[in-house]
Amino acid sequence: MIKEEKDFKEQLSLRGAEIEEIIKKYLPGEEDVPTSIVEAMNYSLLSGGKRLRPMLMQEMYKLFGGDGVGVERFMAAMEMIHTYSLVHDDLPAMDNDEYRRGRRTTWAVYGNAMGVLAGDALLNYAFETALQVLYNCGTVEDFQRVRSALSVLSFNAGIYGMIGGQVADMEAENSQEALGNEQILYVHTHKTGALIKASMLIGAILAGAPDSYRADIAKCAMDIGTAFQIQDDILDVVGDSAEMGKPVGSDEANGKQTYVTINGMEKSVAEVNRLSGEALEIIQSFPGDHSFLEMLVQYLIERRS
Ligand code: IPE
Ligand code: IPE
Ligand code: MG
Ligand code: MG
Ligand code: MG
Repeated sequence: MIKEEKDFKEQLSLRGAEIEEIIKKYLPGEEDVPTSIVEAMNYSLLSGGKRLRPMLMQEMYKLFGGDGVGVERFMAAMEMIHTYSLVHDDLPAMDNDEYRRGRRTTWAVYGNAMGVLAGDALLNYAFETALQVLYNCGTVEDFQRVRSALSVLSFNAGIYGMIGGQVADMEAENSQEALGNEQILYVHTHKTGALIKASMLIGAILAGAPDSYRADIAKCAMDIGTAFQIQDDILDVVGDSAEMGKPVGSDEANGKQTYVTINGMEKSVAEVNRLSGEALEIIQSFPGDHSFLEMLVQYLIERRS
C-alpha cells in the first residue's frame, strides 16, 4: 500500500470512529417509552455502516470554514434517516432482505411490525434531534442557516427525494416495460443521490458557504450519489456477501431493473468512473484542503462493500 493510501485509510477509520461517538451522543434514551422500540432503533443505528453521509456533511462543513458543533446533530439526524431508509428497504414488502451491515435485518430480529415502527421512529427522531439546533442559535444568521438546513433535509428525504426514488424503484420491479436510462437515472438520483446531496449541502450551509456554491455542490453530490448506486448495483452482482455485510443477488431475486441489467457490466464500470471524474473536477473549485474528499470519492469507486 502506498503511503498516501495508508494515510487515507487511517484518516477514514479515525473519522469513522469520531462519527460513531457523535451518533452515540444522540441515541434515543429509554425513559417513558416502550424499551422494545428504542432497542430496535438502536440495533439498526449501531450496527456499523460506512457512515458516508455524515462524513460528507462534516467534510463540507470543514471545507467551508465551519468549526462549531451545530453540525453534529445534523450528522446524527442524517444517519438516522439513512438507517430508517435501509430498515424499510429490507422489509418483506420491499426488498425482502434478511442480512444487513453484517447482521440480521431489523425486521428479521424484531418482526415485521417492529421493523415498520423502528423505521418510522428513526425518521421522527431524526427531526427531533436536528430541530433542537434551532433553540441554540446565537444570531439571526445562525437561525437562518439552521432553518435552511432543515428544509434541505426534509425536502430530500421525502417525495421529492429519497422516497420518490424508492417508489420508482418499486414500480419498476418486475415491470413488463424495460426502464430507459432516463428512468434509471431518476431512481438513482432520488433514492440515493438525494440524501448524499442533502448531506453535502447541509454541511456547506451550516458553515455559511456562499449561495453561489450551491449548484456546484448539488451537481457534485448527484454525481457521487449516482456513481455510488451504480457501484452498489455492480456489487450486488459481483460482490462478496461477507465483505459487504448484505446479500449478493438481491436485485436479481427481486426482478429488479438496475443500471447493470440495463447497460451491462462494462458500461456500468465506465459510468462510475466518468461520474466520479466529473465530481473530482468540481471538488477542485471548493475552498480549503480537499484532499480527503478527493480520496473519499476515489475510494468509493474502488470499494468492495
Ligand atoms: C446502502 O447505503 C444503500 C444505498 C444507497 C446503496 P450504504 O452502502 O451507504 O450503506 P451503509 O450505511 O454503509 O450500511
Ligand atoms: C436502496 O437501494 C437505497 C435506499 C434508499 C435505501 P438498494 O435496495 O439497492 O440498497 P441495498 O443494496 O439494499 O443496500
Ligand atoms: Mg431497494
Ligand atoms: Mg435493498
Ligand atoms: Mg443494492
